[in-house]
Amino acid sequence: MEPKERAARSAISRIQDGQVLGFGTGSTVQYALEALAERIRDEDLRVLGVPTSLQTQRECQRLKIPLTTLEEHPSLHLAFDGADQVDDDLQCIKGYGGALLREKIVAAAAQRLLIMVDDSKLSPRLNKPVPVEVMPFGMGVAQTFLQKLGRPVLRSKDGDTYWTDNGNPVIDVDLGTIADPAEAARQLDAIPGVVGHGLFIDLTTELHVGTATSVRIIEREPV
Ligand code: A5P
Repeated sequence: MEPKERAARSAISRIQDGQVLGFGTGSTVQYALEALAERIRDEDLRVLGVPTSLQTQRECQRLKIPLTTLEEHPSLHLAFDGADQVDDDLQCIKGYGGALLREKIVAAAAQRLLIMVDDSKLSPRLNKPVPVEVMPFGMGVAQTFLQKLGRPVLRSKDGDTYWTDNGNPVIDVDLGTIADPAEAARQLDAIPGVVGHGLFIDLTTELHVGTATSVRIIEREPV
């Protein structure tokens, strides 16, 4: 079994009957949705979930996983998602798949956030570029501010500007090794035109790490 699938199956085993869930986005979440669909089918598990992207929404519809919205359920029992990098304090960089804004809203709405990764995503300190979603109107201004913090690069796809499901571009900012992720998050939040960024601070309550042969689970009290 792939390490990502091992992590995903471990997280899905935590879900209980009757829970309202948040569904992240990405290849690890894909494994998780397939495992959840199996449990719904085999155990008659009754759950509802809020998807964080059109991609996840389509997959839920294909797998017959019942969906709901944050309007109907503003508080979620649990959300599960992948991550692009996780440090020793379980702070994460997310958003390489572009769903960072909805992922963070869903994570904040959830009582518990289960992050599922393979062990290649672990790093003692965060040092990968941080995705920053900006309003098109404020893109130039945001870029000027971001240049003071690091090296911003406008994300592109197939030679064109990349657009999120929310109709916004993403600027990936290389901040080097991030000594204080909470402070970096505050600095990004303060930039006019930034609607969200991929630093997920104090949100993870369980980390499920898959390796070639096993799964390790690290738990944290919600902050
Ligand atoms: C989506 O926007 C991201 O935050 C993903 O959760 C993250 O990129 C992890 O993706 P994989 O599970 O595909 O590695």
